[in-house]
Amino acid sequence: MTKQKQPTQLLLGPIPPALIGCGNEKESNIITLAWVGVVNSSPPMISAAVRANRHSHDLIRDTGEFTVNLPNRAQVDLADGCGNLSGRDLDKFEHFNLTAAKGSLERAPMIAECPISMECRVEHVLELGSHTLFIGRLVSSYVEEGVLTEKGKIDFERCDLLGFCAGSYLETKPLGLSIGYTVKERG
Ligand SMILES: Cc1cc2nc3c(=O)[nH]c(=O)nc-3n(C[C@H](O)[C@H](O)[C@H](O)COP(=O)(O)O)c2cc1C
Repeated sequence: MTKQKQPTQLLLGPIPPALIGCGNEKESNIITLAWVGVVNSSPPMISAAVRANRHSHDLIRDTGEFTVNLPNRAQVDLADGCGNLSGRDLDKFEHFNLTAAKGSLERAPMIAECPISMECRVEHVLELGSHTLFIGRLVSSYVEEGVLTEKGKIDFERCDLLGFCAGSYLETKPLGLSIGYTVKERG
C-alpha cells in the first residue's frame, strides 16, 4: 500500500451523521452532527461536538439534555436538511413532518421516524476551541421493532444506516461478521 500525504484533515469515518434532538419548554429542535462518538462504557457515555453559534448549542447547554437519532439511507435529505437549516428560522419537526417522541428526558425529544434513538443527560462540558464537547450519560435506547430479528437483535441490513466521512454521505453495509468471530472460528 503506497499512501500519499494529504493536507491534514479529519478522516475518521464512516461515522453516522446523527440527528440530535434538543429543546426547552418553548421549542424543539434538531441538529445534524457528524461529530458524535461513544466515549465510555460504564457508565455509557456519548459525546456531541457542537459549534457555539448553532441554535442547538444553547438549548443543549441550558437544558443539559440531548437525544441521538440515527437516520437510515432513505433519510439522507433529512440529515442534510437538518444540517443546513436553523431552528432560529423554522421548526424542523414541522418542516420535515417529523414526530417528536417523548422518552424519559424532560425536554429533549426523540425522532419517532428514525430507526434508532438514544437519550442522554449532559454530565461534562468541554470547550475545545471551535466546538463545545457535550458528554452525556446514556439513559435509554430505543430501536424500531421492524429492524429487530426474532431473537430481538438489531438487523443492520434492515436498519440501512446512513454513514458520513469527510463531507460525503455513505451507505453502511453489514458484513455479517460479529466481534470475536476470528477467535471463535479458530476455536
Ligand atoms: C452531515 C453534517 C454534519 C454536521 N456535523 C456537525 C457537527 O458535528 N457539529 C456542528 O456544530 N455542526 C455540524 N453540522 C452543521 C449543523 O448541523 C448546522 O449548522 C445546522 O444548521 C445547525 O442547526 P441549528 O442552528 O438549528 O442548531 C453538520 C451538518 C451536516 C449536514
